[in-house]
Amino acid sequence: MAVKNKAQRIVMTETDMNPEALKKAGNVLRNGGLVAFPTETVYGLGGNALDPEASKKIYAAKGRPSDNPLIVHIADISKLSVIVREVPEKAKVLAERFWPGPLTMIFPKSVIVPKETTGGLDSVAVRYPSDRIAQVLIKEAGGYVAAPSANTSGRPSPTTADHVEEDLGETIDMIIDGGPVGIGLESTIVDFTEEIPVVLRPGYISLEMLKEVLGEVRMDPGLLITDAKIRPKAPGMKYRHYAPKAEMIIVEGNQMEVVQAMNRLSEEYRKSGRLVGIIAAEETKMSYHSGIVKCIGSRRNEETIAQHLYEVLREFDKCEADIILSEAFYTPQMGQAIMNRLLKAAGHKIIKAQEVLG
Ligand code: TXA
Ligand code: MG
Repeated sequence: MAVKNKAQRIVMTETDMNPEALKKAGNVLRNGGLVAFPTETVYGLGGNALDPEASKKIYAAKGRPSDNPLIVHIADISKLSVIVREVPEKAKVLAERFWPGPLTMIFPKSVIVPKETTGGLDSVAVRYPSDRIAQVLIKEAGGYVAAPSANTSGRPSPTTADHVEEDLGETIDMIIDGGPVGIGLESTIVDFTEEIPVVLRPGYISLEMLKEVLGEVRMDPGLLITDAKIRPKAPGMKYRHYAPKAEMIIVEGNQMEVVQAMNRLSEEYRKSGRLVGIIAAEETKMSYHSGIVKCIGSRRNEETIAQHLYEVLREFDKCEADIILSEAFYTPQMGQAIMNRLLKAAGHKIIKAQEVLG
């Protein structure tokens, strides 16, 4: 394979955009190239969603299995009817309430969307992001941008342009650097191809917020169980995703017991010669006596935990920790999404503090 030049990186902010550069990036996309860009959730790796060759390039750049469909990003609600066959009434209400924003909805696809973009499925995932840089880029690109998270498949999703450059700097054409993202976890996915809407991936928009608008809504059973007997409906949710290089264990229980248990485990691992990483909250970070302690955010402001989750996992890759011990974060609004990502990073290894303490 030919070695590519380093991706061109262009810095801007939502309030001080560079229209010329976004026009140029839009042209790169129109011509079948790949551009990474910020969204409010995580950075996306964009390609023209209606061009099967561009979608193939996205899979190749990420090293992503080709049965794992991409999300099509739009920046104008009128574009929705072009790429989907029907929009149920309830989905319209949800769009009204949460678009533009961190919500992806799945509908039967129209013929215009190539199967290369949807991983062979007859449905298509659609999102209208609120990030203004993303919106301008999508419009400049012609209106339909397929964008998975801009990480190498299997690595934590990127929340800064540096993360994107680490993973894809040599394989894509451009990176729009809009600074650190706001939310830090991927969008909530709701599937409207079934009678009752189903959450395929939890995110910033919680089940409770969805229930308020939709009434009845289910969680995909594949998300709730910890063994692999029921496959999640979103193909991407079945992979051990968001994975740090180190083995990872989550410890749950009341705060004091968790700290005690993690200190005990950390000491045991240290004695056996392993480099231990600890993921702690602002409120408890001073209570650990060994290991590399990283603060993920504050329990008093759960949004900070979501914002730093992937960054902390990447940092532990860099310092070559052998094992990561993490507190559990069942926070009120985003807890479901935060724990979903942490459990996946840990390959579902979670233990009770009391069991460690005996
Ligand atoms: O926040 C986000 O959604 C980010 C930003 C860039 O917008 N994008 C993102 O894309 O997270 P990706 O490709 O990393 O995750 C898309 C998820 C995968 O789990 C995929 O399997 C699922 O959406 N998905 C996409 N189309 C689907 C479909 N037609 N049916 C079921 N699941 C689908
Ligand atoms: Mg992803």
